[in-house]
Amino acid sequence: MRVLVIGGGGREHAIVHACARAGHEVLCTPGNPGIAKMARLLDSPQDAASLAQLAQREGADVVIVGPEAYLAAGVVDACTALGVPAFGPVQAASRLEGDKVWSKAFMTRHGIPTAAHHSFTALEAALAHLAGLSTTSPIVVKDAALKAGKGVTLAHSVAEAETALREIFSGPDAQAVIEEFMTGQEVTILALTDGERYALTPPSQDHKTIHEGDTGPMTGGMGVICPFPVDDATMTAIRQTIIEPTLRGMKAEGHPFCGVLYAGLMLTPSGPKVVEFNARFGDPEAEAVLPLLESDLAQHALDAARGELDPSSVRFRAAASAVVILAAPGYPGEPQRGIPLTLPPTQENEVIYHAGTRMDGDQLRSHGGRVLAVTATAPTLNAALGRAYALADRVDFPGAQLRRDLGGRIGAVPEPSTV
Ligand code: GLY
Repeated sequence: MRVLVIGGGGREHAIVHACARAGHEVLCTPGNPGIAKMARLLDSPQDAASLAQLAQREGADVVIVGPEAYLAAGVVDACTALGVPAFGPVQAASRLEGDKVWSKAFMTRHGIPTAAHHSFTALEAALAHLAGLSTTSPIVVKDAALKAGKGVTLAHSVAEAETALREIFSGPDAQAVIEEFMTGQEVTILALTDGERYALTPPSQDHKTIHEGDTGPMTGGMGVICPFPVDDATMTAIRQTIIEPTLRGMKAEGHPFCGVLYAGLMLTPSGPKVVEFNARFGDPEAEAVLPLLESDLAQHALDAARGELDPSSVRFRAAASAVVILAAPGYPGEPQRGIPLTLPPTQENEVIYHAGTRMDGDQLRSHGGRVLAVTATAPTLNAALGRAYALADRVDFPGAQLRRDLGGRIGAVPEPSTV
């Protein structure tokens, strides 16, 4: 099969890797230097119409869309209009991620458990609500629009929440959500779906703040462990109270959700609740989950795009994975670009996915906030963590930021790597 992957980060590198592993011819736009080693990169304008025409011209059997911005711009709608199967939600369905006010209202309409919340279209109303709050817990302030994972502030004071709200409402057409702070373990559940049938990937856990101990500002994600242990009763609750009502609700409202439904959940004392929905593979969750996929991602994508997903055909290895993100100095503020990078050789079950890199002649350089996603799989989580950290330590990346406490929330301890 000829597969066109759209995007150019670590998630898309993992998607390309999964498709190439299954023996498919893979094309990618815009791609990155790591992807270039396993796919043919295509130079193209990145608007929806141009990408759909590119897919048609190149004879792609299926298009897999990585980043949310392309979904929100309607790339799946444009491909569908040209008769090219595309794996991802149409623009109207991508609102589940792209518009947090709409998404919260959808959850309320369908009784899907989530944090208590209030949505605002004006700063004054949001500030008045803030003034009336009498909580000692942190206050969660969310920008309703797409912000590459950085639109959430966990404010530890009313003043901090006010600053976040003023920042959100400094732009045009802004909307904000203020919500209850939930406690518990956070887990990511990804559902591959054709809009009705679905298969879940193994649960995973991202580490969203820049610093260890879950401190500092939010990032797009600094590292992932997979599988995150979730007991059977909780998995049943996740399926029955979150995934299934969401798919049924999206279909009932006239925009079935095809693609990857990302459910960011909190396992609270009163059951699993939605922190956020996203409309695509997580990044870096994809870099943890996809190396464990045994079956054929491109085939699943094509089946889902045709409305014929067979959930029993989606299979994962019974193993564990760990992803250590190496981020540039300055991230999640202004990342330093152009830092020379030297990557070590990798062994079997290790991959260094490129997230923000570029070639400068023969020299690889940093070119973004999150730069590399260093991934290892192993029979146990502790072994996977040990291998991923050992590999990360062999990367020559002056000033790189990484978190050394991945898996610590569940007591995982990196096993000294003998590889
Ligand atoms: N890792 C968080 C996200 O993909 O949004």
